[in-house]
Amino acid sequence: MRIVMANDHGAVELKLEIAKALRDRGHTVENLGVDSADSVDYPDMAKLAADRFLAGGFDFGILFCGTGIGISMAANKIAGIRCALVHDLFSAEMSKAHNDANFLAFGGRIGYAVPVIDMIEKYMATEFAGGRHARRVGKIDAMR
Ligand code: RB5
Repeated sequence: MRIVMANDHGAVELKLEIAKALRDRGHTVENLGVDSADSVDYPDMAKLAADRFLAGGFDFGILFCGTGIGISMAANKIAGIRCALVHDLFSAEMSKAHNDANFLAFGGRIGYAVPVIDMIEKYMATEFAGGRHARRVGKIDAMR
């Protein structure tokens, strides 16, 4: 798959780890985030990745900040982006099956019980269920 990523200084290590893990699995990753601890503002990082995704050519995006909270909030302000703040395998699966999320968000300062790459792989392996969920996702997208 083709995946666009961005992060702030709160998640450099996690972003690099996930980018490597995805590349090792044969996926294409475009890293628009920062690779140093120098402070940047997470809304700017969310916008960079969202704009690149909306321009086309990517299957989905992944955003990282200290908690995943701020960068997911920022991404969800952008029309066409449905960013899910995922925290376990069930939320990873449902973010695709029910919400058709096109971005996932994670926190570099969060102690997850499940490896982040496992959550991403669960999302990637899941299909959007459509049906009544498509109606609901349509209503989200109409709230712009
Ligand atoms: C930056 O210090 C931090 O606030 C940011 O990474 C994120 O956790 C915000 O939600």
